[in-house]
This record gives sequence, C-alpha cells and structure tokens, in this order.
Amino acid sequence: MNRWIKTGVLIGAMILIAVLAGCKGDDGPAGPAGTATCMNCHTDSYAMEDYLLPIGTQYASSVHATGETYLRTTAPCSGCHTTEGYQAYAATGTLPATELLQSSHIGCFACHAPHTNESFAMRKTGATTLAVGGGSYDKGPSNTCAMCHQLRVPSPNFTPDSMTSSRFGGHHGPQANVLSGRGLHVFTGGTAYPAGARHNTAITDGCVSCHMASLPSGALAGGHTFALTYGNPERLNFKGCACHALRDDAAALTFVDEAKTKFETGLVDTLGARLFALGLLKQNTDGSYSVNDKRRTSTSGPRVIWTADEIGAVFNFGALLEDRSGGIHNPVYARAVLNATLNYANSHP
Ligand code: HEC
Ligand code: HEC
Ligand code: HEC
Ligand code: HEC
Ligand code: HEC
Repeated sequence: MNRWIKTGVLIGAMILIAVLAGCKGDDGPAGPAGTATCMNCHTDSYAMEDYLLPIGTQYASSVHATGETYLRTTAPCSGCHTTEGYQAYAATGTLPATELLQSSHIGCFACHAPHTNESFAMRKTGATTLAVGGGSYDKGPSNTCAMCHQLRVPSPNFTPDSMTSSRFGGHHGPQANVLSGRGLHVFTGGTAYPAGARHNTAITDGCVSCHMASLPSGALAGGHTFALTYGNPERLNFKGCACHALRDDAAALTFVDEAKTKFETGLVDTLGARLFALGLLKQNTDGSYSVNDKRRTSTSGPRVIWTADEIGAVFNFGALLEDRSGGIHNPVYARAVLNATLNYANSHP
C-alpha cells in the first residue's frame, strides 16, 4: 500500500479508536488506551519508531515472512503456519480444530500482542509443553519458538503397526526436542540418553540466544531475521557462540560446516544406508531416503507389522535430519541417539 495512504489509515484508526475508547457503552469492547500510548510506537519522531523500522526490515527477510507455508490454513496445520492459527494455539495450548478463511505470515502479531500488552512482551509466556517425550521446554522468550519448532506425535505412535505413509515422522521442526534432549526413541533394553549440558542447560534463552544474537549489520543475520548465515560468500553470525574462541564470521562458518558435515555423513551415509538395506527406508530418485511404507510380507502379501523399535529407528533418523543443525543444537544428545540407532540397526536381523 502507498505509504501516505497507509499513514492516513493509521491516523484514521487511531482517531476512531480514541473516540471509541472515550464513549464505549456498557456492553462494548474494552477500548485500548488513548492516543498517547499509540504514539509511543507510532510517531516518526520517537525513538521507538527508529526501533520498529529496522526490526521490520530484518523480519521482512526472514523465512517466517518469505515462506509460503502460511497457505496451510487447514486444522491443525494453521496453528504453526499462520498468525491467525497461532494466536488461538498460544491462547489455549491446543492446535486449531477448524479451517481458517484468511491467513497471514507468522508476523509481529503472532509472537507479540503490542496492542493488548502495550509492550513487546511475548504473546505466550511460561513453559511450553512438548507433545512428544513428555515434560516441557522452559528457556525464556524462546518458549515461543518451541510452540511450533517441536516434534509432532507420529502415527503409528511407537506401538507395533503397519506403516501407511512414506512421510511418517515427527514433522519438519523437531529443534526444541533436540535442544532440550527429549522425545527421541529409546530402544528396548536401552537407557535414557544424556540430555546434554552445554547447549541445553547453559544457554538460558535457547533459540533466541543463537538465532537472534544481534549483529551490527542486523538486517543480514541475527535479530528478527532469525538467521545464522548470511552473505555471499556465506558467513555465520557467531555473536551467540560466546564459549567458542572463533575469530570472525568466516571462521565460524567453517567450524559449523565441518561439525555438520561429519554428523550428517554418519547419519545419512552410514545409518541411512543401513536402514535402507534392512528395507525400513526406500530411496528416492534424488538419492534421499523416505520411510518404506511399501514393506510387505511377500511381493503380494499384506503390509508388514513394524515393531516399536523399527518405528523408533526411522523416527530417530528423520528427526535428526529434520533438525537441520547436524547435531549442533545438542551434540551430546544427538550423537548418543545416532549411536544407539546405529547399534540397533546393525544388530537387526
Ligand atoms: C507497543 C507498541 C505499539 C503501541 C503502543 C501501539 N501499536 Fe499499533 N502497531 C504496533 C506494531 C508493531 C504494528 C505492526 C507494524 C508492522 O506491521 O510493521 C502496529 C500496527 C498498527 C496498525 C496497522 C494494523 C495492521 O494490521 O497492520 C494500526 C491501525 C495500529 N497499529 C493502531 C494503533 C493504535 C490506534 C494504537 C493506540 C491505541 C496503537 N496502534 C498502539 C505497535 C504498537
Ligand atoms: C507460529 C509458529 C512458529 C513460531 C512461533 C516460530 N516459528 Fe520459526 N518457523 C515456523 C515455520 C512454519 C517455518 C517455515 C516457514 C515456511 O517455510 O513457510 C519457520 C522457519 C524458521 C526458520 C528458517 C528455517 C529455514 O528454512 O531456513 C528459522 C531459523 C526459525 N523458524 C527459527 C525460529 C525461532 C528462533 C523462533 C522463536 C523466536 C521461531 N522460529 C518461532 C514456525 C514458527
Ligand atoms: C506443531 C507445529 C506444526 C504443525 C501442527 C504443523 N507444522 Fe508444518 N512445519 C512446522 C515448522 C516449525 C516447520 C519449519 C521447520 C524448519 O524450517 O526447520 C514446518 C514446515 C512445514 C513444511 C515445509 C517443509 C519443507 O521441507 O520445506 C510443510 C510443507 C509443512 N510444514 C506442512 C504442514 C502441514 C500440511 C501440516 C498439517 C497437517 C503442518 N505442517 C502442521 C510446524 C508445524
Ligand atoms: C517468530 C516470533 C517473532 C516475530 C514474528 C516477531 N518477533 Fe519481535 N521478538 C521476538 C522475540 C523472541 C523477542 C525477544 C528477543 C530477546 O529477548 O532478545 C522479540 C523482541 C522484540 C522487540 C524488543 C526488542 C528488544 O531488543 O528488546 C521488538 C520492538 C519487537 N520484537 C518487534 C517486532 C516487530 C515490529 C515484529 C514484526 C515486524 C516482530 N517483532 C516479529 C519474536 C518475534
Ligand atoms: C547453540 C546455538 C543454537 C541454539 C541454542 C539453537 N540453534 Fe538452531 N542452529 C544453530 C546452528 C549453528 C545451525 C546450523 C546453521 C547452518 O548450518 O546454516 C542451526 C540451524 C537451525 C535451523 C535450520 C535452518 C538454519 O537457519 O540454518 C533451524 C530451523 C533452527 N536452527 C531452529 C532453531 C530453534 C527453533 C531453536 C530453539 C529450539 C534453535 N535453533 C536453537 C545454532 C543454534
């Protein structure tokens, strides 16, 4: 929209709201505070305005702003893919049950409620319950991230059953589970995995500490871009990597890439190949793996009933891959899960 028209609409809305606030009837909605409060954030001469513009610019380059999955308006998907669905999910803790008519990107009014709170406090406060693995995630402002970036309950849910979807798994954003060391499958006779200390318990604000760590050139990485890497040639904003003695953003990328490549080679080339050889995974034309939902007792026989551990093995494989940090979110936990899954696969008949 044209900037002047937008300003006009805004001023019009402020006057309207200010008038409504002054003369609301007994059963009318509670009006927001008068224009003085509005002007804390909405004037062009106030410091706050200087603050919102750069944040808006950073946000505009983020995947939350540019991604296209906000078109997922059906239930329960909209709870994590749209502002409108998330507002309901944040208020009740339950994913939406009905389809949305309209949707927008995960924007300011998803994570914040400035017109209700009159501040940029998070819309959702308090710990976030994890749907898989039990317990909760409690790391300051990143409890918001964990609402969406967590494992979803798979079907079948670790009880012996047939596999009916090649996309079986805990969905695409298991990061809160991996970071807090919860929810990946423990094999029969195995012991609980170490939850990891450095990235799990020592970093108090979780996701926000690394992905939103500020950079002087904040529009490229950190802050509301939520991105770690930026530029061409690519670099990695290492402001959040305080414990590691890294020289600069170029050195930080090399450090991360080496760790990621080593982990993902073991995950895909060793574990993936073994699960494929066992018939638990199938290979796609591009070389990637998906779950072998076609596994049958014979070429024309019924589908095989998978054991809980077979289900767990492909679940762990998918979750470690979808985490997309190559184990960096929680190296101790991720390596323990990878090794246990590999041991299971290697001893599978
Ligand atoms: C705590 C800061 C804050 C206060 C106080 C505040 N706003 Fe806002 N307002 C925002 C933000 C942030 C946006 C979204 C800006 C964006 O999309 O880039 C916004 C957007 C708007 C919009 C555009 C709506 C839209 O959907 O894009 C209107 C209209 C508006 N505000 C009116 C008001 C009025 C009227 C008041 C006073 C009653 C007020 N605001 C007080 C932060 C604030
Ligand atoms: C309302 C749910 C929701 C919340 C809250 C949320 N995210 Fe996301 N996030 C998503 C979805 C969905 C995508 C993918 C969007 C797309 O591709 O359309 C995404 C994408 C991302 C990406 C980009 C991944 C890529 O492809 O490069 C990062 C990084 C990220 N989120 C981090 C965070 C952090 C950090 C927080 C907390 C400050 C957070 N998210 C809060 C749902 C959410
Ligand atoms: C609990 C939150 C949550 C729910 C519910 C959810 N998603 Fe997502 N989804 C995410 C997050 C977070 C990402 C982004 C992960 C990332 O980029 O690492 C994502 C990513 C995706 C992607 C992009 C995958 C890719 O590889 O680019 C698609 C497509 C998707 N979701 C579809 C759906 C559909 C369809 C549903 C409903 C059946 C759904 N999602 C329900 C959280 C959720
Ligand atoms: C995906 C969630 C998410 C979205 C979308 C989002 N924010 Fe934020 N915002 C956060 C988090 C988390 C923090 C707290 C960061 C911290 O504590 O370091 C924050 C902090 C802020 C702050 C306070 C900054 C500070 O240094 O204390 C402002 C102002 C703000 N956001 C404005 C916006 C505006 C404007 C938009 C839309 C253009 C927006 N946010 C969109 C998650 C989000
Ligand atoms: C210790 C720092 C750290 C913490 C804490 C952290 N991340 Fe990451 N994250 C990384 C690194 C490093 C990568 C790999 C970056 C790369 O290779 O581009 C990554 C990758 C990702 C990706 C893949 C897309 C991308 O940006 O590369 C997503 C999505 C993501 N993290 C989300 C989250 C969420 C959600 C949380 C909180 C539950 C979180 N992260 C916590 C460091 C962190």
